[in-house]
Amino acid sequence: MTSGKVVEVTGDQPRPIPDGYDPTIEVSLVVPTYDEADNIGDLLRGLHAALTATGVGFELIVVDDDSPDETWRVAAGLTTEIPELTVIRRQEATGLATAVLGGWSYAHGRLLGAIDGDGQHPPNVIVDLLASMSEGADVAVASRHLPEGGMVGWSPARRLLSRGAQTLGQLLLPGTIGRVTDPMSGYFLLRRDIVAGTEMDPVGYKILLEVLARCDVRRLVESPYVFLQRTAGRSKVAVGHYVGYLRHLLRLRVYPLRSRALVRYLAVTGVALALDAVVFLALFDLSGWNLTRSAAIAGETAILFTVLLHDLWTFAGRPARTFLDRVRRLVGMHLVLGVLLFTRLAVTNALVNWIGVGPLAAFLIALAVVMPGGHLLGSRLTWRSGRS
Ligand code: GDD
Ligand code: MN
Repeated sequence: MTSGKVVEVTGDQPRPIPDGYDPTIEVSLVVPTYDEADNIGDLLRGLHAALTATGVGFELIVVDDDSPDETWRVAAGLTTEIPELTVIRRQEATGLATAVLGGWSYAHGRLLGAIDGDGQHPPNVIVDLLASMSEGADVAVASRHLPEGGMVGWSPARRLLSRGAQTLGQLLLPGTIGRVTDPMSGYFLLRRDIVAGTEMDPVGYKILLEVLARCDVRRLVESPYVFLQRTAGRSKVAVGHYVGYLRHLLRLRVYPLRSRALVRYLAVTGVALALDAVVFLALFDLSGWNLTRSAAIAGETAILFTVLLHDLWTFAGRPARTFLDRVRRLVGMHLVLGVLLFTRLAVTNALVNWIGVGPLAAFLIALAVVMPGGHLLGSRLTWRSGRS
């Protein structure tokens, strides 16, 4: 249901973010609001002026969760003054992160972004963020924690809490949170294709965290800004948000374990081990080769099989960027699995020579005990760094 430039939406089921965009719109900036009627006008005018000065095509999308102070109505009143503005009024939905995602799903720009609606983020920083994007960044983040950034009027207690939350995040998600000085930033831009087609399920406030954890972000550039004090209204951050943050961290922590890549990864490992056994049997039992040589060749076959399938199938979405990357993976797998292969040969021989186990049984025991962990660990170490 649409009336003028107000889009009415019920529920927070985020729609998928399409790949396609309108080439005349360089950037779509989403402004999530809840009870920001006294702030939204100044912010939108500031953004409008800053973006108009850059000369790029843009749109502003306010996503208001049916605020009691009718922020959506105030924003809608500005659509004549700011023709690039659309207002989405969500009913029966709350949450900053889902509001941003919801806004992006309606956006037309090549670049997508978010900025809080209360004026705590200086609109002009958008110029730096756009510059980073045109220099090839995947994501451009406004950061309070760079040397020229900062926070005005934050109590030591909230600073401590904010830093504590960040440190906890670094411990739980080092690869995601460790690469950015301000992972909690509410002000950033990204290229549409970074999020289009990626399933996201954020809890609470931290939409950037969700993007960094789930999407393939390679180039990330930060620009400093000073987080200003509110002139009106109050922060919606409450104790519940810290609990939400914790839940979000834990969910992102276990997310890779449920991913499609993991299922493939286990499948490849299982087939590789079976292949290992079949090759061993063929050489040892049918061709009469000696134990050590048969086990070594079988192990090597399984390694090559694993490397090939992981590259072509399991981690196909994270292609090696250069030939050197591929060589590095192959060598990496051999280093890890080579040690294991050696261990396995030692175990097999020890079982046969010292304990008197039959060669076949010894091979199978060594295969079952030594190899699964090795394959899993080896692949994990080798393919983990799909990002730079
Ligand atoms: N649509 C919608 N729905 N908007 C919301 C909701 C919601 O449930 N909750 C908050 N907002 C809007 C607020 O109206 C404001 O425009 C913006 O999201 C940020 O909320 P604040 O309550 O002002 O948060 P803050 O200032 O304490 O913290 C913000 O800035 C930090 C620094 O960038 C957040 O963006 C933090 O995530 C961020 O770390
Ligand atoms: Mn705020």
